[in-house]
Amino acid sequence: MEYTNKIITGDCLAVMRSIADNSVDVTFADPPFNLKKKYNGYIDSRDMEEYLHWCQQWIEEMVRITKPTGSILVHNIPKWLTYYASFLNGVADFRHWISWSAPTSPMGKSLQPAHYGILFYAKDIKQNKCYELRSPHKRDRKSNFLSKDYGGKKAVLHPYGPLITDVWTDIHRIKHNKYRDKHPCQLPIHLLERLILMTTDEEDTVLDPFMGTGTTAVASKRLGRNYVGIELNTEYVKIAESKLLQETGHSKLGDAWVSIFLKRIITLRDTDWDIIEPYYAIPKDRKSIDFIEIKLKSLAPIYCYESTDSLNTTLFFDHTLQKNEIKK
Ligand SMILES: C[S@@+](CC[C@H](N)C(=O)[O-])C[C@H]1O[C@@H](n2cnc3c(N)ncnc32)[C@H](O)[C@@H]1O
Repeated sequence: MEYTNKIITGDCLAVMRSIADNSVDVTFADPPFNLKKKYNGYIDSRDMEEYLHWCQQWIEEMVRITKPTGSILVHNIPKWLTYYASFLNGVADFRHWISWSAPTSPMGKSLQPAHYGILFYAKDIKQNKCYELRSPHKRDRKSNFLSKDYGGKKAVLHPYGPLITDVWTDIHRIKHNKYRDKHPCQLPIHLLERLILMTTDEEDTVLDPFMGTGTTAVASKRLGRNYVGIELNTEYVKIAESKLLQETGHSKLGDAWVSIFLKRIITLRDTDWDIIEPYYAIPKDRKSIDFIEIKLKSLAPIYCYESTDSLNTTLFFDHTLQKNEIKK
């Protein structure tokens, strides 16, 4: 496709209308939430009907251009997702409503909002590509014991961690300005990495019609996938392009693509565990996983470096190592 690995400056509806049916593997959208956010050049306060009519149009374009094996992912606050689901139910197959952590602020006589949602629809559930993922066991900060009591099942604990559910409490909004681009609502890169590992294979293409400062593109490149980005604002496009130039695209352990955050692998595919396991020192007595966190063998990662935004610290692994060979 002519747009592969490019960020197009322009209106997402116009650009998507020029893309052929069934041509990208995954579409992911993080649109403006109509919450009066201060974007450069986009007015984020439309009349509700106008906003929803506009959303329906780009959602339908996303579905049209997604391949039959592909997925449509849409991020927003629950209020808007309820409308999005009604649009999507007519043209795609529901898979999941994923909730992930959001900052809470008291809203008066109401429940404090504590999650954002991601709607996960398959273009065709019978053909849809979707991989099971694992994340590290959650532990008590002081005692280091597992937060969950596995009772009599401790001897069969997975050494790395459980299968991921549809509630993601281990990924948070970027809270500090020093880790953020000049953009009011940049998403954390490892959120996109998790979605990409779940729904795509190496060299698949992910399209994001609201690219902002490039989170989806950087995550795709980091995981050996292609991307297509669309963004109205030229300043955001420039930031995204400069981040992409610095991205080397090697978030791998052995032959397996993994998502890394703060020097830990935080998402891997269940099917890749056989490749990844030899890189970890794992206690022989499986029950002791209850209080011992498995660690990467000392030199599995050969060096690590801090990328420009130091929150997205990346471990780099030595690609000269043969499959399953581990430097001692
Ligand atoms: C919520 S932000 C996306 C942030 C992005 N996920 C990131 O992590 O940087 C929405 C973006 O959509 C852009 N935008 C608004 N209307 C647009 C349109 N019609 N076509 C393309 N981009 C648009 C805004 O400029 C803004 O950067």
